[in-house]
Amino acid sequence: MAPCTDSAEIESLKAEVQRLEAELETQRGLARELAEAHARVRKCLEERKEAEAVFREEHDRLRQIFDSAVDGIIAIDESGTILEVNPAVERIFGYPPEDLLGQDVSILMPPPFRDEHAAYVKRYLETGKKRVIGLGREVTGRRRNGEAFPLYLAVSEGYAEHRRVFTAVLRDLGRLREAEERARRAEQLAELSTISAGIAHDVGTPMTTILGYAELLQKSVKDPKNRERAAHIVDQVRRVRDLLRTLLNIARPRTVAPEKTSLVEIIDHSLAFFREKLKGRGIVVERDYAPVPEIMGSPDRLEQVFLNLIVNAIDAMPGGGTLTVRVRLSTDELIEISIADTGIGIEPDVLEQIFEPFYTTKERGKGTGLGLLVSQRIIHDHGGRITAESEPGVGTRLSIFLPTGIVREPSGSGSD
Ligand SMILES: Nc1ncnc2c1ncn2[C@@H]1O[C@H](COP(=O)(O)OP(=O)(O)OP(=O)(O)O)[C@@H](O)[C@H]1O
Ligand SMILES: [Mg+2]
Repeated sequence: MAPCTDSAEIESLKAEVQRLEAELETQRGLARELAEAHARVRKCLEERKEAEAVFREEHDRLRQIFDSAVDGIIAIDESGTILEVNPAVERIFGYPPEDLLGQDVSILMPPPFRDEHAAYVKRYLETGKKRVIGLGREVTGRRRNGEAFPLYLAVSEGYAEHRRVFTAVLRDLGRLREAEERARRAEQLAELSTISAGIAHDVGTPMTTILGYAELLQKSVKDPKNRERAAHIVDQVRRVRDLLRTLLNIARPRTVAPEKTSLVEIIDHSLAFFREKLKGRGIVVERDYAPVPEIMGSPDRLEQVFLNLIVNAIDAMPGGGTLTVRVRLSTDELIEISIADTGIGIEPDVLEQIFEPFYTTKERGKGTGLGLLVSQRIIHDHGGRITAESEPGVGTRLSIFLPTGIVREPSGSGSD
């Protein structure tokens, strides 16, 4: 490069340097602004992320409340189309959510409420006249299986995304009523326990005396007509005594005074008690006894169980049949006793209730509906359990499982 001597050229170069420096400064400023803008954007993004997390948390929390509610919650639009349902709705109505979303809400109502509902919504939208909205009332619902049931319904109205949305909260009163009924029966039973303890004492004693004299009369009276009358007295007094015994079994404190007990002996004793009745009915008894150990238990109370089950079996075979009694070791720890009849059998919905207090299908004066309950209690008190299986028109089998845990030596009873 040639040396610069021209002052004009030097000035021009100086000016050029100044311009370049100014430009550099501008660029630096721009870079700073850019960095600042970057930082602002980053901050904005972070804030947004945070807001989203808060929103998600809030959403999850509300969803959790919605999903865990015991009551059913259904959102519908103005035309009655289902927009949203919570899991309780499936529990109550039996429909999975996907079968409900987009459907008309009337699917959950039995006729004629179905048509009434459409008319009601129409009238409300036109006139603003409310019947359920903002209030609550009992209505009738329809489960997927067609069952109609009482239901408490409260509807509120709101707006979501500029649309009118109705939110229905509903409670299944059917289940509630069933639970109330069960509680009522349990209460009845508790009351009965107290009363029966008194009755058993106050009435039981004179009954024993009456029975004693009546039996004496029956034996000593010569005139056949009077003997028959005495037999009637004996019969009826025995019935009263048996009922008292049943009541006493419910009232009695639930402890077993254990003694060495041979189940087979007790069963045979119970069968012997009904020998005449069984014969009269044309019922054949089949015994199938495998050797089982003796247990520690209460012979009197266990006998009551077998008497109850045999009476039930006899009642179930008015035209005769076969009564099969089987005893065997079900496992090392359990003795299984089954009493099976070839009687009328039990419908599945009845089968669920046979152990409930006062449940009977027998005519008034014939059954109190306590036999199986008492039997179940006695078996429970012995640490066992009792089950029932049945086929209508074919027969019924009651199975008792008793633990051998309190076993002494084996009794080695064979079949008869
Ligand atoms: N072997 C059976 N076959 C058919 N139905 C039965 C049998 N055992 C029980 N049941 C049904 O269960 C119901 C309840 O039986 P449970 O013994 O508790 O009462 P109950 O026999 O009616 O009256 P009770 O108090 O006099 O025994 C009966 O009324 C009957 O409907
Ligand atoms: Mg009975």
